[in-house]
Amino acid sequence: MTESLTTTVTVNGQPATLVAEPRESLADALRRCAGTRSVRLGCEHGACGACTVLVDGRTARSCLMLAAQVDGGEVRTVEALVGDARFEAFVDGLVQRNAFQCGFCATGMLNVMWELFGEVPCPTEEQLRSRLSGNLCRCTGYQSIVRAVVATIEELTSTGSWLPNPTSGQEPSR
Ligand code: FES
Ligand code: FES
Repeated sequence: MTESLTTTVTVNGQPATLVAEPRESLADALRRCAGTRSVRLGCEHGACGACTVLVDGRTARSCLMLAAQVDGGEVRTVEALVGDARFEAFVDGLVQRNAFQCGFCATGMLNVMWELFGEVPCPTEEQLRSRLSGNLCRCTGYQSIVRAVVATIEELTSTGSWLPNPTSGQEPSR
């Protein structure tokens, strides 16, 4: 039997230890050892984006990474955003607008969007579509998701709840 590797990592601001076989993916190890059930596995080969998390501040497909690769690093999942007033108001807006159907793709997309909003708080629809283009929705609800995001940002902006980010004005880096 293959010997397990012990990886020390910060998950959502808390120290965590991932004890995983050398070939275990970061996605599996996060779900099994850190309890971050927002990390979802769809295709398991980098195509759908459902498993997207942030590793050292950048989005990454956790099904394509080994747990051992993040040793000493920082991982953030959607659980870290729970309780954040801006995030919760945003998610409420999406729910009210029926953005998602089954919601399986939602957490990966939320991580991608939150990275984008850190660069461009009020992205254009084109910027939003471009950034989400690597995330698949098995319910094929792309139009409803984009429409809901745009409308929610407009609403929160009009009520002053969509606080500008200090990096406002930057173009997305990819
Ligand atoms: S599960 Fe990782 S990209 Fe699909
Ligand atoms: S809402 Fe079902 S996969 Fe996107």
